[in-house]
Amino acid sequence: MPFAKTGGLADVAGALPKALKENGEDVSLVLPLYGQIDRKFLGRQIIDNLEVEWLGGYRARIWHSDAPGAPTFLIDAPEYFQRNSIYGFRDDHERFAFFCRASLALFKRLGAPPDVVHLNDWPGGFAAVELRVRRASDPFYSRTRTVFSIHNLAYQGAFDPNELPRLGFGTQDRRDPFMMGNVASALKAGLISSDALSTVSRRYSLEIQTPEHGHGLEWILRARRERLIGITNGVDYDVWNPATDKYLPAHYHADDLAGKRLCKLDLLRAFSLPENLERPIIASVSRLTSQKGFDLIKEAAGSMLETGATFIALGSGAKDYEDFLQALRNHAPHRVGVYIGFNEPLAHRIEAGADIFLMPSQYEPCGLNQMYSTRYGTVPVVRATGGLDDTVQDFDRVTGNGNGFKFERYAAGPMLEKIHEALYCYREPEVWRRIQSNGMRVDNSWTAAAQKYMSLYRAVMNM
Ligand code: ADP
Ligand code: GLC
Repeated sequence: MPFAKTGGLADVAGALPKALKENGEDVSLVLPLYGQIDRKFLGRQIIDNLEVEWLGGYRARIWHSDAPGAPTFLIDAPEYFQRNSIYGFRDDHERFAFFCRASLALFKRLGAPPDVVHLNDWPGGFAAVELRVRRASDPFYSRTRTVFSIHNLAYQGAFDPNELPRLGFGTQDRRDPFMMGNVASALKAGLISSDALSTVSRRYSLEIQTPEHGHGLEWILRARRERLIGITNGVDYDVWNPATDKYLPAHYHADDLAGKRLCKLDLLRAFSLPENLERPIIASVSRLTSQKGFDLIKEAAGSMLETGATFIALGSGAKDYEDFLQALRNHAPHRVGVYIGFNEPLAHRIEAGADIFLMPSQYEPCGLNQMYSTRYGTVPVVRATGGLDDTVQDFDRVTGNGNGFKFERYAAGPMLEKIHEALYCYREPEVWRRIQSNGMRVDNSWTAAAQKYMSLYRAVMNM
């Protein structure tokens, strides 16, 4: 299980180090000690005064935990991380620049330079720059290489460049790796300064090289395409498995789906919806942002309910979408279930109890819920973008192949057509069973992805 979570990056941070360790890699995870982390996983304090060169000096405490997954170092700096959410603050750039600086100080204190530091998203950009600079001036780091993973190019960690010198970085010179127009971008700095780049699906690795998905950074990604690889995320089946899932009222697997009906009943009850097991449930578990296609859901909601299906949504985010979902529920309380907020157990119960999982993303670097859905016998209806395109195969009635339904054009019409097609198949139990079974038998475990990362690490070490 992840230590703290707002979305898919947490699932990756929880699962990839564990898979690397299982493959024999000597790996540790470094995380800020967020206020959200359950203190029972803290482990023991190993350093009580790690000196960090930071705004005139900072002493951090370091904890070391063995649970869960790989060995984890937690950097304890309460004024930065003991807050009511993981990110979303005005000083986020300062918080994560600090985290990076403290991590490098930690490695030094431990006395063993890492071969590879694997950085994730814009918060890692600060460490990429620092390691590049130190490689030349600090023998301790002369052999350390960096891999930078892009989980979402839209979040760039932009801040006022006047802050750079204060945080111990360069100038506002146009050639400074942080500078992007008039702002400083931690993401851009990471993309320029890291030894290798990866992202979380093959298709997204190509999309981000185009103006449509490149967010102004496509030129860097094109220039460095030889250093950029797409590695599709896996699924942690210790956490997401209907045969063992601790949050479910009943268990099931590909050969016996009886338990799924009980999960459906449980889900209907959880939302005080009529206990009609024949009526299909279309579900969504998502951050409520335009990325996830909620404009299409808004536009199509009326038609979706006209099909006779029940709609259940779990999510939080933009107020506009939260209000829309609440209004939809008030409009059709017997056909719509809505939970606004973050609720891990409920996310599992929805995956198990629903029939169809809707993910009409505008863009999707990888996406995990569609892979969880297929394992839970819940058929995904997705837009053919990024990792959704790589992991969902459109069902073909003639060959019987395919684990879901996908549409191309980002518009409500094509999405509704696919929902209709899915519902049509739902009414034919044998066909439906076939689609479920195709999905449940797919192996998306982390092993293959972990091995690809290991090859990437070896490649950068030999650079
Ligand atoms: P993203 O990282 O873009 O949000 P992913 O599909 O990669 O999308 O991962 C989302 C993860 O967050 C999944 O594990 C999903 O179950 C979880 N999740 C999203 N919203 C919620 C919520 N409101 N409550 C519980 N889990 C959620
Ligand atoms: C990001 C992306 C999502 C991906 C996740 C983990 O949050 O939006 O598509 O699955 O990171 O890589």
